[in-house]
Order: sequence, then structure tokens, then C-alpha cells
Amino acid sequence: MKIKIGVIFGGRSVEHEISIITANQAMTNINEEKYEIVPIYISKAGLMYTGEKLLKLEFYKDLDNLLKELTPITIVNNGKNVNIVRYPMKKLGNNIINTIDVAFPTMHGTNGEDGTIAGYLEMLQVPYIGCDMLSASIGMDKIMMRRVLKEAQIPSLDYVAFYSTDYIKEEEKIINEIEEKLRYPLIVKAGNLGSSVGIKKAKTDTELKEAIEYSMQFSDRVMVENAIVNLKEVNCSIIGDTSNAIASECEEPLGSDEILSYQDKYISGGKTKAGEVAGGSKGMATLQRKLPAEISDEMKSEIQELAIKTFKVLGCSGVSRIDFLVDNDTNDVYVNEINTIPGALSYYLWEATGKTFEKEIDELVDIALKRKREREKLVFSYDQNILALQGNKIGIKK
Ligand SMILES: Nc1ncnc2c1ncn2[C@@H]1O[C@H](COP(=O)(O)OP(=O)(O)O)[C@@H](O)[C@H]1O
Ligand SMILES: [Mg+2]
Repeated sequence: MKIKIGVIFGGRSVEHEISIITANQAMTNINEEKYEIVPIYISKAGLMYTGEKLLKLEFYKDLDNLLKELTPITIVNNGKNVNIVRYPMKKLGNNIINTIDVAFPTMHGTNGEDGTIAGYLEMLQVPYIGCDMLSASIGMDKIMMRRVLKEAQIPSLDYVAFYSTDYIKEEEKIINEIEEKLRYPLIVKAGNLGSSVGIKKAKTDTELKEAIEYSMQFSDRVMVENAIVNLKEVNCSIIGDTSNAIASECEEPLGSDEILSYQDKYISGGKTKAGEVAGGSKGMATLQRKLPAEISDEMKSEIQELAIKTFKVLGCSGVSRIDFLVDNDTNDVYVNEINTIPGALSYYLWEATGKTFEKEIDELVDIALKRKREREKLVFSYDQNILALQGNKIGIKK
């Protein structure tokens, strides 16, 4: 019997389309002799669908039209199986379209990568690939992530974080605090977004105020940190869990302007490793990059070790990509962020180590099933029902 993989993608996120691309890359690299693919698409409105058309990228050009060709569904655990159920149901006939054995979320950004999909899958009691709620949500939140990194003494940039509501009340106090703790140029980021949305550089206090107001449009919290002027960016992927995690080859993503933008990451495309020019249809996989990164062997080892440490400190599982900022003037290395569902699942970083995408997915499924087995050993309930005891013994007063 083939293992049925429910590939879940799309969702209410600015990275909706990127998620479609990642899912498509995953679905075309799943070993179909071993696994059956069950595509589960979450629309921009947050509704779930399945259908054959989801397997081919060409059908996504008109998303509204695509929805009409799909079957709206819900996922139900009936105590025996995790069923994909047509919803609304038809009065006659079988509404159970399929079942899934393991879920494979390939969603980027809000309402997915931030732990929401992990929570949903936990409640459904289906094994799933990737981080659990806690690691996913901390990984998504730039400010919480920074607090955890600092506490774990993993090198990361100094920062000042605050709520927009406090900034509105005490602008001068917060600006003073920033100017005391940090130094210009500064980078201002919205608290919990990705894809370079809500990020600006500030060289003066006027620019700082403008940048803060800009970021406040995207999030209720803002983070300000020192900007690295002579910057090199290096990314490294990790596969595993907290007991066994390994690091990939390192890449150096190359942007066209100062801040690697959404445009750079996903739209402009670029030369792939094989040299062919791809228009923006492959997401992160076609970003212009140096692979391997042009760094010393020592720095590569340092980055790989820090990537593993970050992955473990956060309690991650599956495949993540940890992004680093390197100060070329000092050779200092800082962990910048983690992507717990990285674009293209970082397959190109693993291919560079000799691991095929198909093998990567195989390993991810194994890790998900192992976690399920381990969790089943934990005690979640006692067989004793305290409500069956007499009221006075458990201190219930009438
Ligand atoms: N402290 C910094 N100094 C210089 N450039 C930075 C700094 N922080 C971020 N950047 C630039 O902005 C980009 C986006 O920032 P990042 O923290 O990775 O947010 P996102 O979640 O949007 O990817 C980075 O890839 C880098 O090019
Ligand atoms: Mg980034």
C-alpha cells in the first residue's frame, strides 16, 4: 500500500503563489512508486479544495477559474482514518474522496508557516512534515526569535522592539532608546512578516521615523536593528529534528539593490545553477546566487554549526533554512532569520550535497512518522476519571 501524502499549500498569505510553486516542485519530485499524492489547496479566502488540476502548474494562471474546477473539501478524523471529505456534502453518493496518512504543508508566511497549519494538523492527529506550533511560530516572529537567540547566546544583531501603540504614545522616548542602544544606519522591520515586506533602511532620525511609520502599516510591532553596511548574505538548510540534524551546502543569495526584495526573490528570476534563464516561475530556486557561497572553510563550518544550533534551540523538525548576515569588515556572522518552510524546500542546497529532492522528501516523511511514534509514547491522559470519584474526595463543594 502506498503512503498517501496530503500536500497542503496556498493559504491566506502574501506568499500564496510562492507556496503553489513550492508545492508543485514537491509534487513533481515525490516518488510515486512509494507515495500517492493528495493535493490540498487552500484558497486566498482560506477554503480547502482538492482535484487533479492541482497537479499541474499551467492551471494556476487564472485562480478564480481554477476554483470552479476543484472540489471543496474539509478534513475529518473519524477515529480510524483522516478523510478528505467533499463539503458541502452531496445528499447521495460517497462524500469521502480520499484519506491521508501524512500531511506535507508547503505553505509560506502567515496563516501557515507561522504554526497555524501545525496546530490544525495536531488537532486532526495526522502525522505531518515540518515544525510544530511552537517552533514555527517563534521562527516566524522576528522579535520573539531574536529574544530566543539572544538567550541561547547564538550571535544575532542587537535590536530594539516595541508595539506600535506604545510608539504612538511615546515616540520620542522610543527614538531616544534606539539612538542610545544602536547606531545609524539602522534597519526597521515589521514584527512578523517575511518576503522583505515592511523593511526599510534609515540613515538619519527623520528616515528612522519614516521607516517606523512605514513598518507600522504591516504589523502591530516593530523591530529596529543595526544595519550591516558591508554585507554578505549566506543561507544554510537543515534537515532533521532535535535529536539528529544535518546541515546542507551554503549559498550566497545575490540581490539587485540594498535590501534583497520580494522582486529579487521571486519575480525577476535569474540564472539557475544549470545556467538556463528562468522567468519567475520557480520562486527561491531561481534567485541569483552563488552556490556554494564564497566563504572560507572556517566560516562555512561556523555557519553550519550555528544553523544546527538554531534549529535545535527552536525545537524544529523537517527542513528549514537559516539565513545569516555576514559583516565583511569584521567577518562576524549573525543569524538573521529562520524559514521553517523554506522556498522550494531548499532542495537546491541539498542537491549540492548529492541528496536528490526525491530523497529529501523521503527523509521528511520518515521524520514525520518518527515524531508521531514518539509522541504516542507520551502520556496525554490518565485512565482514572476524577469525575467518577465521590464529590467530597476531590474537593468539589455542592
Ligand atoms: N541588519 C541588516 N543589515 C543589512 N541588511 C539587512 C539587515 N537585515 C535585513 N537586511 C536585508 O533585508 C533583507 C530582508 O530582511 P529579512 O530580515 O531577511 O526579512 P524577510 O523576512 O523579509 O526576509 C535581507 O535579506 C537583507 O538583504
Ligand atoms: Mg529574509
